[in-house]
Amino acid sequence: MIVVPTDAAISSAALALSKGALVAVPTETVYGLAADARNSQALQRMYLVKNRPKEHPVIVHIGSIEYLDYWTKEIPTYAIQLANTFWPGPMTLVLKKSRHVDHNLTGGQQTIGIRIPKHDVAKLLFDRFHELGGKGLAMPSANRFGAVSPTDAQAVVKELRNYLDSSTDKILDGGICEVGLESTIINCSEEIPEILRPGAITFSKIKSVVPICKVKNLSHSNLKFSGNYLKHYAPKAKVVFTGNPNKGDGFLALISISTPKNCIRLASPKNSNEFAQILYNSFRKADEMKLKQIYVKLPHGIGIETAIIERVYKAAGEQLS
Ligand code: TXA
Ligand code: MG
Repeated sequence: MIVVPTDAAISSAALALSKGALVAVPTETVYGLAADARNSQALQRMYLVKNRPKEHPVIVHIGSIEYLDYWTKEIPTYAIQLANTFWPGPMTLVLKKSRHVDHNLTGGQQTIGIRIPKHDVAKLLFDRFHELGGKGLAMPSANRFGAVSPTDAQAVVKELRNYLDSSTDKILDGGICEVGLESTIINCSEEIPEILRPGAITFSKIKSVVPICKVKNLSHSNLKFSGNYLKHYAPKAKVVFTGNPNKGDGFLALISISTPKNCIRLASPKNSNEFAQILYNSFRKADEMKLKQIYVKLPHGIGIETAIIERVYKAAGEQLS
């Protein structure tokens, strides 16, 4: 099921997608589970494999900006500026949906999330898929609903091997994801853009392109996005980030912070970018070691740190306020 992404293998994966199969795809953020966004049967199976609630919308991924008009309408100028600056890249724009959008994609909302990922394997796959007439791929993270997003191909295998169909579905091995956290989501369906999920395209990067931008108060929302589901991205181990660690806890902190006595070091990232990249991997490692608790020493900062902090709060089942 796991495939080395040669040109031939990528072409064959694109063909499989166009016939309704599911393919796990490496991106710069996390691995996605792709299905042809115009094939409702494939979409329904994708929801089943992920065990994802029907009302939870998915992001449509495209290989080039020319497909944006197919999926959306009334795109504000500021959204075009964001797209031109940050695509391909770790940013999803939520826009008003066009008439082409299948109801399976939106969870009944009037908007659709769109992203162009930045990864050599994803790029080739999208090129081949578009050549076959495909318009876009629905691609949620390649994990069971509520679990931690996979950041390497082995993690996808562990998450989904019991649910994928080994005769048709594939997992493309594109190595370790560079960013390690899901894309920044920006709602562009209103006059003023609003960040719904923090990510590697940070508030200050966005503000350098658009003068005014809001940040969603993640605990008070009626939009359907990750923040609505408490205990998202959660490992089996309990996640804590305040007080003192207990004996036997997994411990994750920057390399400059030494391991407390009787704790088990999960990783020693050198900076916040490495912290983001290794976070989910550390959660998985702790679960494989059957640890009861993970203590995360949060990094300080308002860049990628915002995304790290949001994910750790979610994993701990805490509300950000
Ligand atoms: O980095 C990413 O975004 C990864 C990779 C694979 O591209 N994808 C990803 O997809 O994280 P997923 O489905 O695991 O998370 C997408 C989030 C969900 O929480 C969903 O609720 C939100 O995006 N979302 C999707 N469409 C939306 C919409 N129209 N309005 C508001 N939120 C939306
Ligand atoms: Mg997800």
